[in-house]
Amino acid sequence: MSQAASSSPSVAPTKPAGGLEGVVAAKSDICFIDGVAGELIYRGYDIGDLVENVSFEECAYLLWEGALPNRQQLQTLRSQLAAAAVLPKHVMAILSALPPKTQPMDALRTATSALSSIDPDLASNEPDANRRKAIRLTAQLPEIVTTFHRFRTGQQPISPDPSLSIAANFLYTLTGKAPHETLTRVMDAALVLHAEHGMNASTFAARVIAATLADMHAAVTGALGALKGPLHGGANQDVMELLLTCKDADDAEQKVRGMLANKQKVPGFGHRVYKTFDPRATFLRKMSRQLGEAAGNMKWNEMSERLIGVAKEGKNLNPNVDFFSASTYYTMGIPLDLFTPIFAIARIAGWSAHIMEQHRNNRIIRPTDDYTGPMGLKTVPIEQRA
Ligand code: COA
Repeated sequence: MSQAASSSPSVAPTKPAGGLEGVVAAKSDICFIDGVAGELIYRGYDIGDLVENVSFEECAYLLWEGALPNRQQLQTLRSQLAAAAVLPKHVMAILSALPPKTQPMDALRTATSALSSIDPDLASNEPDANRRKAIRLTAQLPEIVTTFHRFRTGQQPISPDPSLSIAANFLYTLTGKAPHETLTRVMDAALVLHAEHGMNASTFAARVIAATLADMHAAVTGALGALKGPLHGGANQDVMELLLTCKDADDAEQKVRGMLANKQKVPGFGHRVYKTFDPRATFLRKMSRQLGEAAGNMKWNEMSERLIGVAKEGKNLNPNVDFFSASTYYTMGIPLDLFTPIFAIARIAGWSAHIMEQHRNNRIIRPTDDYTGPMGLKTVPIEQRA
C-alpha cells in the first residue's frame, strides 16, 4: 500500500515551484534584476554604468559596503588585496600535489577550502571578520587559479605584483607576461559583469550554508561546487566547446537547429530570470567583437551572431552571460577550462556580500518538501525480502 503525505502535516502545503521558480528566498539590498526589461542593478547602480566607469575593486567595495569608495578608501582596499594575494605555503603545496588532470574548478574548490585552516578570522562571523575574509578570498581565488594552471603545465608559479589590479594580476600570473592594456580592460570589465547576480544557484547555496552559521570559507566552497555545473557557470566552457566543433556559421546553425529539434540544451542560451537579452551579454557581445576585430579573426563572432537568430527563432531563447564570455576569453588566449574559474574569481565579490548579509540578519534556511513516497510499510526479516 502506498499513500503520499506532506512531511510537515501541521503546515498548510503550498504548491511546490519546480526549481523554486518565483520563490522569494531572502530580502536583500545587494542586487536587483528586472528580467523583462533586461536590467541588472548592483546596489542601485545600473550594470552599464558600472562596467564603463568602475574597476572590479570598486565594484567589490560597492557590493560589500553599499557605496562606491572614495579615492582613499579604494587605495586602502587595493593595499589590503595586494597584501592578501600571496598564497600560504600549505595551499601552494596542495596545488602542486594535485594531479595535473584535476579540473581547475575542483582545484579551486579544494584550495579555497584549505585556506580556512590558517585564516585568523575563521571562528568569527562578525561583520569586521567577514569583511577581512571577503578581501582575502577575493585576492586569493585568482592566485589559486593561475598557480594551479602553472603547476599543471609544468611551469613555476609567478608571485603577484602588488602594483597591479586583480584583472592585470590574473593575466600576469597566468602568462608571466606584462599584461596588455586592452586585455586587462576586457578582463576587468568581465569581472564587473560577473561579480553579482542576485539569488542565483551558487549564491543561494552560499546563503544556505552561511545560514547554518558556518563560516565564509565553508559557504564559498559550497558555492564553488554549485557554480561548476553546466546549467550554471560551467556553461561558458561548453559554449566554446560547441563552437570549436563547428567549421563555420552555416555549420553552427545546422548543429544548433539539430540540438533544438532534439530538445537538447544549447549552452549559453536561456535564463530563469531574463525573458529578454541578458544585459551582461550585450557588453560581452561588444567586447567579443572588438577582440575578434583586433585579432583579425571574426569566425567566433560570426558563428555567435548567427546562433542568436537561430535560438530566437527556434525556441525564443536569448543569449545569457556565458554565451559571449566564451569567445571573449578564447580570443584572449585563455584555456577553456579556466573560463568557469574566471566566473568564480568575479563572483566571490557577490558571494561574500551575500554571506555577510545573511550573517547580519540570520535565520536558518530550512524549507520543507512535498513527500510523495509510500506510507505504512512494515519491515520483514531479510530472508523474506525480494
Ligand atoms: N537550449 C534549448 N532549450 C532551452 C534552453 C537552451 N539553452 N534553455 C531553456 N530551454 C527550453 C527548455 O527545454 C524548456 O522547453 P520546454 O518547455 O519545451 O520543455 C524551456 O526552454 C524552459 O526551460 P527550463 O529548462 O525550464 O528553464 P530553467 O529556468 O529551468 O533553466 C537554464 C534555465 C539557464 C538552466 C536553462 O536555460 C539552460 O539550461 N541553459 C543552458 C545552460 C546555460 O547556458 N546556463 C547558464 C545560465 S547563466
